[in-house]
Amino acid sequence: MSPTSNFRGTPAVDSTTVFQPNLFVGKVLFCTGGGSGICRTMTEAIMKHGADAVIVGRNAERLATASEELEKLTGRRCIPAPADVRKPAQLKEAVEKTIATFGRIDFVICGAAGNFLAPISGLSENAFRTVIEIDTLGTYNTVKATLSHVRSAHGSYIHVSATLHYRGTPYQAHVSAAKAAVDALSQVIAVEEGPHGVRSNVIAPGPIGGTEGMERLSAQLKAGSSASVDSTSWSADHSSGIPVARWGDKRDIANAAVFLFSPAASFVSGAVLVIDGASEHVRSPQ
Ligand code: HXC
Repeated sequence: MSPTSNFRGTPAVDSTTVFQPNLFVGKVLFCTGGGSGICRTMTEAIMKHGADAVIVGRNAERLATASEELEKLTGRRCIPAPADVRKPAQLKEAVEKTIATFGRIDFVICGAAGNFLAPISGLSENAFRTVIEIDTLGTYNTVKATLSHVRSAHGSYIHVSATLHYRGTPYQAHVSAAKAAVDALSQVIAVEEGPHGVRSNVIAPGPIGGTEGMERLSAQLKAGSSASVDSTSWSADHSSGIPVARWGDKRDIANAAVFLFSPAASFVSGAVLVIDGASEHVRSPQ
């Protein structure tokens, strides 16, 4: 996404231009949702600092392609582990594959998510449950499947949340409820697992360009929805309301992940890191 005309700030950069290239040598990342979007870019950045990775998702073909590309881009190993985060047995298999291949799990990104626009009046019970099951239960399932290994490694979790639930975002009842629960889960994990050497943090991305989520939501708005979504109440074009005057870049989120997994963040746990160019702080004069 190009910056707006009043952009005076710093463009997004690669983490390797700021952090040590060998920061994560010997470490292993387990990333749900790593086949595409923000989570794939987070995986790429962490691999560029020396980690090997396992990416988890429902689409086996996409995962296989992404793994190959990530290996080429980073020179590290990346293996695909097809699994639906709603299915604990499939996650268990993905974790077993990770341990059989790499012997450890240091870092976990809980990033698998689902979204669409729908007013609560048109949101079926199954639609609401589906997003809660992917986002919230999927996070719980991922933590349960990986925790013993993350404890052994004195490792760290990053949960990918959102900023939607800080206020009433129209057509996002399901995602808002799901992400609020993810924030709460992370806090409890931080408190309970801190004494075991495990940290847990949330990254809350604001408007990030070039992501499947934003593309899907924009497309749904453009097409007009069967569930009568009104584009005047939910604008996918947030760019004019971003104080830093550019859209977020997937690397902005990846850089935060590199920091949070690094020893520089060893006292950072239970935090929610909002990365939105100050969008959440904008209020019109009364
Ligand atoms: C109303 C909808 C709907 C829509 C699906 N449903 N789309 N209801 N409006 N546009 C309903 C269906 O009718 C069904 O309910 C129920 O949801 C389950 O739908 P399925 O298609 O059977 O589910 P499934 O195949 O599991 O797909 C899950 C999904 C899908 C969430 C619906 O969109 C998906 O797979 N998404 C994954 C990728 C994705 O969305 N990534 C973006 C994440 S971005 P009924 O009652 O008919 O059975 C993100 C960040 C948000 O999360 C921040 C943005 C600013």
